[in-house]
Amino acid sequence: MCVPAFPSFRYILAGGERGAVASGNLARIDGVVPGNCPGQSRKPTRRTPSQRATMPVWQLKVGAEENFVYILADGPSREAMVVDSGWETDPILSVIRREKLDLRFVVATHHHSDHTSTVSQLARTLGAKVVAFRNSPVKSDLPVSDGDELRLGDARAKVLHTPGHTQDSICIYDGQRLFTGDTLFIGNCGRTDLDDGSPRMMFRSLRSILKLPPETIIYPGHDYGDAPFRRLSDEARLNPTLSARSYAQFLRVP
Ligand SMILES: [Fe+2]
Repeated sequence: MCVPAFPSFRYILAGGERGAVASGNLARIDGVVPGNCPGQSRKPTRRTPSQRATMPVWQLKVGAEENFVYILADGPSREAMVVDSGWETDPILSVIRREKLDLRFVVATHHHSDHTSTVSQLARTLGAKVVAFRNSPVKSDLPVSDGDELRLGDARAKVLHTPGHTQDSICIYDGQRLFTGDTLFIGNCGRTDLDDGSPRMMFRSLRSILKLPPETIIYPGHDYGDAPFRRLSDEARLNPTLSARSYAQFLRVP
């Protein structure tokens, strides 16, 4: 099977270069499916489960805290989810209406207000369900646990419980991409010194992320790094919180 290579990802910005997403600008990233790999036949073939997991993704940067909002959609059914709706709904609604998406879920990766202030409003507006971890203070329609799956048409995305930044932190994994909220950023991890954070839990969660396939693409909850997303194998090498081999070493990372 042809594994999608990072440089093959199509990354289109409205008014900006890659890595220079200005507030309110939109990035769409299409994963490459095997039929698009160089030298492979383009004739339609029966879709495997991993191919079905490939979903168009829009990355939207909003607000003064450089939050990333994500919209994932299943191409055939147009069913979609938003991961962390951030501060404003207008840019999200604009994409959903333009692309004729059917919003099913609004996921809160954790309870901090820069990620959740509009989740209920957005879900109410479009008849979607708010999704949050079962112990989260976020008022959810669909409390989830580690390993639960969210379905969009034939595609599925898995909930991974990754406490550390907060007790209710989750990541969303669609089989090729990991949406990490404030658990993992490009070049660092989320803070563990706020309210219910825990450095020991964060270290454990980061070790669990490292067990995912190395070609997994990391999509963080903030634009704090030198790139808007990165392949896990590269991040594991470049990010000191991931490359720390022991908890003691992890605690020494600035
Ligand atoms: Fe946070």
